[in-house]
Amino acid sequence: MKKTVLITGGAGFIGSHVVRHFVNKYPSYRVVNADKLTYAGNLQNLADIENAGNYVFEKADIVDEKVVDALFEKYSFDGVIHLAAESHVDRSIASPNEFVFTNVIGTVNLLNAARKAWKDNMDDKMFYHISTDEVYGSLGSKGLFTEDTPYDPRSPYSASKAGSDHFVRAYHNTYGLPVVVSNCSNNYGPNQFPEKLLPLFINNILTGKELPVYGKGENIRDWLYVEDHAKAIDLLFHSGRHGETYNIGGHNEWKNIDLIYLLCELMDEKLGREKGESAKLITYVKDRAGHDKRYAIDASKIQDYPGWTPEHNFREGLSKTIDWYLENTEWMQNVLSGDYEKYYEQQYLER
Ligand code: NAD
Ligand code: TYD
Repeated sequence: MKKTVLITGGAGFIGSHVVRHFVNKYPSYRVVNADKLTYAGNLQNLADIENAGNYVFEKADIVDEKVVDALFEKYSFDGVIHLAAESHVDRSIASPNEFVFTNVIGTVNLLNAARKAWKDNMDDKMFYHISTDEVYGSLGSKGLFTEDTPYDPRSPYSASKAGSDHFVRAYHNTYGLPVVVSNCSNNYGPNQFPEKLLPLFINNILTGKELPVYGKGENIRDWLYVEDHAKAIDLLFHSGRHGETYNIGGHNEWKNIDLIYLLCELMDEKLGREKGESAKLITYVKDRAGHDKRYAIDASKIQDYPGWTPEHNFREGLSKTIDWYLENTEWMQNVLSGDYEKYYEQQYLER
């Protein structure tokens, strides 16, 4: 094997697309997916590549320092692509501590282990940390986040991601660890847990449940198809400059309510429902506490690299995404079991 790469959080939404991309594109790499399998981790996401000769799964909690050290001893990693995280803003508002443990302490455990393992030669190594545009805070109606925008995290989720980003950069500055950080906008696509806007609303439309729009639905997000993110990660893992940050986004801003109407229109077409039928489910509910108004990314730095541009047009990407959820109802049923009902009640029935 040419390289052994650790991908953390590989059983989650974005992680599973990154693992599949690397396993298929780089047969000479050994890809080790380390994941705790929280409610958001699902090995079904990787069923198509689980028997590939260059793929290994390790059930591991990155908060446990000994577990992380043992992984590094067992595999002699050449590179790390770190995606494991608690990732949902609403859950971070309800229970922030888990976000500090996994996102901050988990990241520091990985940094320490990489530093120890690579102390004699860091030249050809890479610690690539995946982060979010939410660390930059909230925009008004104008402007874009650049790599130089000062950090201003406003939710427990984004504060924990900002903390982890600072540790990653500090390890580069202090110990010379070869790191790259990227901050990406909202991803959409197959295998996303139905706590996030799009899969939640697709499932609710299918099952005739209300569509809980926070506030007036005027918040704005920039949406990127998950495979476009995976390709950007591939590019930066191989060509990103040590110590640098890259913003990744789709130049694709949508006001929530406009996006929801488009989703309803596409779902009506696909389900053979009368036009306007799904939109009747729209229900305005109490706003999210501290709800960031607008995120928008200036992705010109990564787009200056030859070879990356978002390939998916939004309408096509959204249509493909809906088709995936309609064809994979068993996947949805499986992830809706367990604690999901309790989560849904606490999150929505009191709003
Ligand atoms: P996700 O919640 O779908 O998946 C997270 C994965 O991490 C799960 O498989 C989970 O089991 C695993 N995990 C959680 N705690 C762990 C622990 N203590 N030890 C080991 N594994 C653990 O998240 P996602 O949406 O795929 O996001 C992946 C990464 O990308 C996160 O770092 C997130 O901050 C970042 N990101 C996400 C988005 C987005 O729109 N989803 C946008 C930008 C950046
Ligand atoms: P989400 O998918 O949670 O991503 P993020 O908060 O990280 O951007 O939410 C996307 C947008 O949709 C955000 O402005 C909050 C809004 N939203 C709702 O209006 N209702 C919902 O039930 C959810 C989950 C989100």
